[in-house]
Amino acid sequence: MTVGHVVLIGLMGSGKTTVGRKLASAIGRRFVDTDEEVERRTGRTVREIFESDGEPTFRLIEHQTLADTLATPEPLVVAAAGGAVLRDDSRALLVEPHRIVWLRAEPDLLIERVGRRRGHRPLIDDDPDLRLRQLWTERDPIYRSLAGTTVDVTGKSVEGVCSEIVEALA
Ligand code: S3P
Repeated sequence: MTVGHVVLIGLMGSGKTTVGRKLASAIGRRFVDTDEEVERRTGRTVREIFESDGEPTFRLIEHQTLADTLATPEPLVVAAAGGAVLRDDSRALLVEPHRIVWLRAEPDLLIERVGRRRGHRPLIDDDPDLRLRQLWTERDPIYRSLAGTTVDVTGKSVEGVCSEIVEALA
């Protein structure tokens, strides 16, 4: 039987990692972040993989990492990196029995947050504001189509977002 994980999706800066850690400790599950898992498995940073092998290779590694993570028999909280929804075969994994939770935020909030943490985000190197707005427009419909639960994170604390998710999962 496939175990149901809680999987957080959403754009960079929406708080998947911070909320995911807090949520995992609140509901007594282990937390896995796919970017960290890619880096642990490959021994390379996300940025190094993008720069030396290119985005398609990164997406393939990301897909394999997501697939293996979701095959874990122990129920987890998983933060799926922002672009982990781009491949068809990755999207096909983000279905029941997993609980797919979309952390939604307006572009201005993402821009403000991501401005401070761009290390593992080479896609927005050139013009972070513009690139985030483009990614928001491209991906909003994708996250929407996958989400079982949507939490608008605007103006909410990490604790507030976690409580909403816990309520939605109950
Ligand atoms: C990406 C998001 C990043 C990281 C990479 C690509 C994306 O993860 O995987 O820079 O395409 O949205 P976070 O969503 O954790 O920032």
